[in-house]
Amino acid sequence: MKFASKLAPLLALAPVALGAGAGASTTSESESAATGSAVDKIVFENVGFTGYYYDVESYTDITSEDCVCKLSPTFTVFEGANAPLNEELSVHLRGPISLKSFGYYVTDDLSSGTWDRLAYYDSESQNATNVTFLKNGGDFSPCAGYALTYLSANGSGTASESTVLESNNLIESDQEYTILSASKCGESSALGDCGFYREGIPAFHGFYGSTKMFLFEFEMPEATDDTNTTHNMPAIWFLNAKIPRTSQYNANTSCSCWASGCGELDIFEVLNSSKPLQLDSTIHDYQGTGDIETGLEASDYFTRDTSGTMKGGVVFTSDRKITVFMDSDMSIDESIDASDVSNWISDASSEGTKSLSSVTMNTSTSTASSSSSSKKSDAAAVGSSGLLFSVMTLGLLGFLYL
Ligand SMILES: *[C@@H]1O[C@H](CO)[C@@H](O)[C@H](O)[C@H]1NC(C)=O
Ligand SMILES: *[C@@H]1O[C@H](CO)[C@@H](O)[C@H](O)[C@H]1NC(C)=O
Ligand SMILES: *[C@@H]1O[C@H](CO)[C@@H](O)[C@H](O)[C@H]1NC(C)=O
Ligand SMILES: *[C@@H]1O[C@H](CO)[C@@H](O)[C@H](O)[C@H]1NC(C)=O
Ligand SMILES: *[C@@H]1O[C@H](CO)[C@@H](O)[C@H](O)[C@H]1NC(C)=O
Ligand SMILES: *[C@@H]1O[C@H](CO)[C@@H](O)[C@H](O)[C@H]1NC(C)=O
Ligand SMILES: *[C@@H]1O[C@H](CO)[C@@H](O)[C@H](O)[C@H]1NC(C)=O
Repeated sequence: MKFASKLAPLLALAPVALGAGAGASTTSESESAATGSAVDKIVFENVGFTGYYYDVESYTDITSEDCVCKLSPTFTVFEGANAPLNEELSVHLRGPISLKSFGYYVTDDLSSGTWDRLAYYDSESQNATNVTFLKNGGDFSPCAGYALTYLSANGSGTASESTVLESNNLIESDQEYTILSASKCGESSALGDCGFYREGIPAFHGFYGSTKMFLFEFEMPEATDDTNTTHNMPAIWFLNAKIPRTSQYNANTSCSCWASGCGELDIFEVLNSSKPLQLDSTIHDYQGTGDIETGLEASDYFTRDTSGTMKGGVVFTSDRKITVFMDSDMSIDESIDASDVSNWISDASSEGTKSLSSVTMNTSTSTASSSSSSKKSDAAAVGSSGLLFSVMTLGLLGFLYL
């Protein structure tokens, strides 16, 4: 998911734009889709590394032409299994898509335990528990894009208060929305529970856990609209929840933590409009790549069924695996035995794997990586402490000059 700018032309001006620029998705998106085989399961292995990214620190004159987004001069360190995707995530859906049901789960002990559903949406019963539907439809900012606001029941407009997505919720090409929990963020602040976020937005927590699971029952019918932007390119993906709360589609890559690598996972995404039946899975962070735009794409893919309901999801486990799967037997129950999850995963008749490289921060003269409990490290201290390896590897050089 090239999640960034709808204002791509401006990006050319951004001195820090990486690679092709974060905004390549403006018109008919055409990216390199996976060239492997159709599978029922894709396993990302060895996921998680010690690294860091830059949070947004402030916005000035946000809705004016002179708006400025400023990144924090200190960076946020992450580490552990599945990092940085072990942080709170937001859920994103792009049309044509209709959401039948959604569940978010956590577990204490995968091997013997159960998965407990902490958030749920069911279109038919209209049960919406611990979910908030949001859209980039609020105030416009030339640098940070549209602010987050509540989504209307039909999935394509805005609302003045939290509204349950109605059962007939098919959205067209290029329409998209976000799901966060119903757990409200405290004050916007670098040290707050949600970090800094854009003023005036309905701010909610993402879905936490280094082990967690998301299940979806959905349809991705053939587009009937005449949109020529991301036409017939549906997707389900996740972002570090700080991204939508600051700026998801920005003209300036400094307007969110995305470009410095706070994390994105695409699970079912049409990447190339000429391959509309191919759903790709990709991690966008710096674990073994300096090209966050392209990210770490699995070479196999899922097949999009345009006429029926698809059931699938993603499981993040403590063994540093992120397993994306489709299984028609899956069901989004209140509590799920770990053995059932294992069965859905092992039912797959075909699978693809993508093993991420082991990226280690050079900590020979640094204590930065072991101080993650405080999350914030002093940039000056870390800068002087032998991080050259990671700076080069993570491709963050440009960001040092912000
Ligand atoms: C992007 O934001 C950074 C940080 O505020 C600023 O230095 C830079 O000039 C901005 N770029 C553009 C193109 O506005
Ligand atoms: C998209 O797919 C078409 C047809 O297979 C191919 O010619 C084109 O190169 C692809 N685009 C990219 C960017 O890979
Ligand atoms: C919705 O689901 C929750 C459990 O996730 C359950 O406790 C509640 O009774 C359900 N509400 C309705 C109206 O079915
Ligand atoms: C969806 O709902 C919004 C807000 O209520 C409304 O403005 C819009 O016209 C609706 N769209 C469709 C296609 O019905
Ligand atoms: C709702 O989800 C959030 C985010 O993961 C979680 O922290 C919270 O405990 C959940 N609330 C309930 C009532 O389960
Ligand atoms: C895409 O649609 C817009 C608005 O309908 C139109 O102005 C534009 O010419 C179209 N572009 C292409 C490449 O068809
Ligand atoms: C780690 O950094 C130290 C000090 O800058 C350097 O001497 C050493 O070669 C580096 N090790 C690796 C594996 O890059």
